[in-house]
Amino acid sequence: MTDAPAHDDDGYDSEFDALVAPTAPISHLPPPSLAPAPAVYPGCCVALSEALIGNLGALLPPAPALVVSIGSGSGLFEALLLAEPCCLSLIGVEVQPSVNRYLPSSRHRAVVGTYSLEPLAAEATAWLFVYPRRVGLVDEYLATYGEGAVQTVMWIGPTADWQDYKACFGRGWDVRVTCADEMGGRAWEVVAVATKTPP
Ligand SMILES: C[S@@+](CC[C@H](N)C(=O)[O-])C[C@H]1O[C@@H](n2cnc3c(N)ncnc32)[C@H](O)[C@@H]1O
Repeated sequence: MTDAPAHDDDGYDSEFDALVAPTAPISHLPPPSLAPAPAVYPGCCVALSEALIGNLGALLPPAPALVVSIGSGSGLFEALLLAEPCCLSLIGVEVQPSVNRYLPSSRHRAVVGTYSLEPLAAEATAWLFVYPRRVGLVDEYLATYGEGAVQTVMWIGPTADWQDYKACFGRGWDVRVTCADEMGGRAWEVVAVATKTPP
């Protein structure tokens, strides 16, 4: 699947959306099978591979611990983490009207605007931010719910963007940054995992 169609910067393909939009609200799509080599798939900003999903799944808490993905977009990335072999307990949060295509309604929450926060984050053991658009969103979640159950925050995005986001994690967080190509992804993306340190 290395010849996945090109898409715009946000990972959405307008032809793809036009094709699936009429049926998407009724039922969610099954995620595609991933190739061993990283490739960009319509509906996801991150270059995906089987190995990347397996490695990321292993860094997140296993079910029944709750993982909340903030800005889940089409839900493709999240649907892959819900499926075998990861089988995480995950809920994706997206702004309404949601562009979700892959997550069943039981695994999806919609918030009213880009400045809205989903209170379920207070109960989650881990948060995921995959290609977020605004540093302030990470800051606001940490300020509002960072003292709650969350133990791990995973951030995935372009290496250059991480420079802006790393300041979100000050005292109280131990941050490990790995180039995505060491985990089955592409060289220009990084995976940052922030772990809450004991007080
Ligand atoms: C660049 S897209 C990335 C989508 C997806 N994670 C991916 O990698 O393809 C950022 C997403 O964050 C969503 N978003 C922005 N503000 C949000 C908020 N307050 N809560 C939830 N999602 C939000 C946007 O609607 C958009 O779908």
